[in-house]
Amino acid sequence: MNIVKDALNKEIERRRTFAIISHPDAGKTTLTEKLLLYGGAIHMAGSVKARKAAHHAVSDWMEIEKQRGISVTSSVMQFNYNNYCINILDTPGHQDFSEDTYRTLVAADSAVMLIDGAKGVEAQTIKLFQVCKMRGIPIFTFINKMDRASKDPFALMQELEDVLDIRSYPMNWPIGTDGDFKGVYNRMLRQIVLFTSGKSHGQAIISSTKGSVDDPIFKDLLGEPYFSKLVEDIELLDIAGDSFDLRKILKGELTPIFFGSAMTNFGVELFLEEFLNLSPHPGEQLFGDKIVDPLNDDFTGFIFKIQANMNPNHRDRLAFMRVCSGVFERGMHVIHSKTGKPIRLAQPQQFMAQEREIVDVAYPGDIVGLFDPGIFSIGDTLSKNGDLNFGGIPSFPAEHFARVTAKDTMKRKQFLKGITQLAEEGAIQVYKQPDIGIEEFIIGAVGVLQFEVLEYRLKNEYGVDLKLTHLNHRHARWITDINGSPEDLNLTSTTMIVKDNRDNFVLLFENEWSVQWALDRNKGLSLRNIL
Ligand code: G4P
Repeated sequence: MNIVKDALNKEIERRRTFAIISHPDAGKTTLTEKLLLYGGAIHMAGSVKARKAAHHAVSDWMEIEKQRGISVTSSVMQFNYNNYCINILDTPGHQDFSEDTYRTLVAADSAVMLIDGAKGVEAQTIKLFQVCKMRGIPIFTFINKMDRASKDPFALMQELEDVLDIRSYPMNWPIGTDGDFKGVYNRMLRQIVLFTSGKSHGQAIISSTKGSVDDPIFKDLLGEPYFSKLVEDIELLDIAGDSFDLRKILKGELTPIFFGSAMTNFGVELFLEEFLNLSPHPGEQLFGDKIVDPLNDDFTGFIFKIQANMNPNHRDRLAFMRVCSGVFERGMHVIHSKTGKPIRLAQPQQFMAQEREIVDVAYPGDIVGLFDPGIFSIGDTLSKNGDLNFGGIPSFPAEHFARVTAKDTMKRKQFLKGITQLAEEGAIQVYKQPDIGIEEFIIGAVGVLQFEVLEYRLKNEYGVDLKLTHLNHRHARWITDINGSPEDLNLTSTTMIVKDNRDNFVLLFENEWSVQWALDRNKGLSLRNIL
């Protein structure tokens, strides 16, 4: 390997790019903050949190986020820890998140699934997990809030298997899950680590007491009942549980579990170290039928997210690009595959823990924010020769629909422009009823909150007040096969026939029952929920 390749290889091997997936309130903000704390990116935990409370979280760029104190858009944070370079892709925590969340996972090499020990696997976790599973990326589980009473750890493992269909391997095992948390047993090191929450309530890094399980001191420290239960549990795990298998972990078939408490920092460092040790560095990526090796000299990247107007003072639009191969250099010329045109990447930005800054070089696994004068769309590829196409961005079925028009018909042009741009960003899906003109659309979204974002942005960025009527429809199905024309279909009275922006026919249904009704009564009809 020559010197340049060797240097590139070193940068790739030290990179970890991952997303944290969880249900709101499981502790994602807290865990992210603690990871930043251990990485030295922030010095006092509480800063991310305090900002969130003050409606100014690190990632809260949009006004609407500030008003509600929630994170609508996904952001990226980079920091270093023990010579690793870590990119955390943040995903919106609110339950009404959009397709954006799902798409962010396309740019991740692994995922950390954060679960509240008392609540187990919750609704949003299931959805996000499924996207990770579809991509086959490794999933690491952190079971949080162990400082409080939690579900039985065996029951939690069973839940992962029953609900998510994934086997698990506990890397450590909690002692005292009835509200009297004593610590964990580290299975690899055969060591007990005693729980200490420290006096700073998790604001500073803590150290714990640890030692071999055979040391009689632990029997005294834990007390006989907890000690005996631990010995029993470990025996059961060793005999009946899955064995550690890194190959299965990397294929996403086995999830390592870590028990801990993000709030008190307990288990966070152990988790971070094992995670960095076991998780993959950026690897090969499929662009259509071509495999791109990160070590390839030629630069390749793809756009997985577009965010308009993150900074109200600048009214800019940023395209988030993941570097897949080669070295990205500020000012470099690349070919935009979609148009075949060369572009100069002049003002790339990177996202450090607290702020954005101009980046000079970036390596595979890194996320770069590109200033977008309106030329990029989700899934676009930028590369040296322009002969690659990513094409791997999945789209997700909308579950909420609304009819929208501009209140003031004179604003039709701005209305169209706004709707088109938001559709390009992938924030909404746009449908038309065949017999209605361009002044009215049916908008589909993955989460209801997207409608609020739509109303807000059309008003603030395009000066258009919307008339928005929510519909009861919940399922979109694309017609892939049909005898005759869609108008002749035998459908329930509430089913709507619309066209997507590529003129494909789509049926909107209020419930699963009417989907089945349509399939049962129309011979030759076949439907798909994603095209
Ligand atoms: P999110 O981003 O996933 O929505 O969750 P977030 O970190 O905001 O945490 C949700 C709540 O859970 C917070 O409490 C937080 O302090 C608490 N929490 C997080 N990790 C732990 C843990 O390990 N143990 C315990 N006991 N609690 C934890 P809150 O009351 O909503 O906010 P705050 O008053 O603490 O700021």
